[in-house]
Amino acid sequence: MARRTLQDAYFKKAKAQGYLARSAYKLLQIQELKKVIKGGDAVLDLGCAPGAWVQVANEIVGSRGRIVGVDLKDVRHAFGDRVQMVQGDAFELAPEILLDAVGGGPYNVVLSDMAPNTSGHGDSERSARLCWRVLELVPDILAPRGNLVMKVLEGPDYPALLRDTKGMFAEVKGHKPRASRDVSCEMYIIGHGYIAGRVPQCVP
Ligand SMILES: C[S@@+](CC[C@H](N)C(=O)[O-])C[C@H]1O[C@@H](n2cnc3c(N)ncnc32)[C@H](O)[C@@H]1O
Repeated sequence: MARRTLQDAYFKKAKAQGYLARSAYKLLQIQELKKVIKGGDAVLDLGCAPGAWVQVANEIVGSRGRIVGVDLKDVRHAFGDRVQMVQGDAFELAPEILLDAVGGGPYNVVLSDMAPNTSGHGDSERSARLCWRVLELVPDILAPRGNLVMKVLEGPDYPALLRDTKGMFAEVKGHKPRASRDVSCEMYIIGHGYIAGRVPQCVP
């Protein structure tokens, strides 16, 4: 099937399967390949609106898991008891607030699908800054050996971002899931096994 047709198919499939957005399939494909989330995990989802990744994570963590979703936008969907929503800006939310939201923490997995409002100018730089914010939060909120998935719009900062993430996790790969639109320059940086105490070196 042509990629474009396949991508329209994801939109229809999301509707049919009750996912809030087609982006659900990006996380499902990442999970299938890389097994980032497991049953019972505490998961932080940064930039979670409208909530398709929260839905996917909720299915995987099961009854012992917990999920905290953060977004600038107010998310009102009823996800159930295991999910807590925090409305706010990832640049401003202190680690303590994120840890309180999950009952003290730490998290086993940090997801970030955060994306800047695209203007066609400086998008990849703004996207990279969002990623560095995620890396800044990691030492305070992610458990040792925890996992990370974060979206970045590929641009001049991508190699430094990848290098920085490699310094913090035992195994790091850049990956573009099939459900990611081919016109998009988005990539997902996937880190397995946070090495306790490691911090990012290149935060702008
Ligand atoms: C592509 S959407 C996420 C889609 C989501 N993963 C899903 O599957 O439903 C990107 C989100 O990032 C959020 N975002 C962008 N910058 C943010 C920031 N500084 N803090 C929190 N959320 C942010 C936007 O409001 C937007 O809802």
